[in-house]
Amino acid sequence: MKAAAQFERGAMPRYIENFPEPLPRSDDEIGMSVKAAALKHFDRSRASGKHYSAAGNISEARVIGGDGVGVLEDGTRIYAIGVGGMIAERAVIEKDRMVPLPTGIDDATAAALPNAVIGSAMPLRFKAGMQGGETVLINGATGFTGKMAVQLAKYYGAKKIIATGRNRQSLEALLDLGADEILSTQTSDKDFVAQLRKIHHHTPFDIILDYLWGPTAELIFSALKGRGSFTPKTCLVSIGSVTGDKIQLSAEILRSVNLQLSGSGLGSWTREEVQKLFTEILPEMFELAAAGKLIIETVKVNLKDIEKLWEEEVPAGKRLVIVI
Ligand SMILES: NC(=O)c1ccc[n+]([C@@H]2O[C@H](COP(=O)([O-])OP(=O)(O)OC[C@H]3O[C@@H](n4cnc5c(N)ncnc54)[C@H](OP(=O)(O)O)[C@@H]3O)[C@@H](O)[C@H]2O)c1
Repeated sequence: MKAAAQFERGAMPRYIENFPEPLPRSDDEIGMSVKAAALKHFDRSRASGKHYSAAGNISEARVIGGDGVGVLEDGTRIYAIGVGGMIAERAVIEKDRMVPLPTGIDDATAAALPNAVIGSAMPLRFKAGMQGGETVLINGATGFTGKMAVQLAKYYGAKKIIATGRNRQSLEALLDLGADEILSTQTSDKDFVAQLRKIHHHTPFDIILDYLWGPTAELIFSALKGRGSFTPKTCLVSIGSVTGDKIQLSAEILRSVNLQLSGSGLGSWTREEVQKLFTEILPEMFELAAAGKLIIETVKVNLKDIEKLWEEEVPAGKRLVIVI
């Protein structure tokens, strides 16, 4: 089969025309024909060996890509997470890790949506316990996942959404997706903290979703710092680390605020939460997208171009989808 395969962890994936087809190893698994797979930070980071879920070298050549859209033998169109790689003509999936797709959503959109939903609905619902009526700050909202977070925070009933970002045009476009206020990260640290403090003073952040970590996360923590009197409860969830994996965090800040700090990613969710993702959250999101109620922008590319596009930067807020 045609596949994007890697022969060594960290090496550039290659387009292969005769990669062996994978076969199910138990009754819990099933084969599918893949039609589209999104190429995300997660896939690149796993392939490079930098993702915490992919340590060590690989013992044999493997197909890359974590998830995708395609059809089962009986013709059912599905989204699924692969047992092995998904950027290939055939893949094996676990039967309880797939979601049937509604008509009205195209393959590329359906392939691009889930990772962004995982990166926004899971932290909002399960880490921050969003109920509706909250003020939500989204740091790094101009990215593909941040854009989804703005839309889902609105959908889940946020009272106010504040979005931060670097690209001015993308930031302004978030106002049409549901953001109430936008803050550019392209300003002085002092100004960024002052603006955050001012908003937090008038409408305290109930939830903060962070996709960047690094310098802007440090500034957010200093904007939250209390002065010894009662503070509102804030729940900050780390989802990504585009601008750095480490920060300096003052213990004084932690003691001065009513802060719940957590992360959302593979390993942080319960089995029940993951089950809900497949049985409730993703089906609902596919329906919303099929009804045109979620804005998802993709850039479609061909499998045979995998080597050319591996390092490619996609236009702001869009997702690269490999069509097979
Ligand atoms: N844990 C999970 O479940 C989960 C799920 C999905 C994604 N993620 C993670 O979330 C993060 C974002 O993913 P994504 O899909 O939204 O990525 P993306 O579409 O590539 O967006 C990248 C974001 O980072 C910003 N950025 C890049 N360099 C920057 C810099 N030097 N200073 C300030 N901002 C900078 C971009 O801002 P501009 O566009 O404004 O320049 C944009 O908002 C990644 O780390 C990804 O791995 C985690």
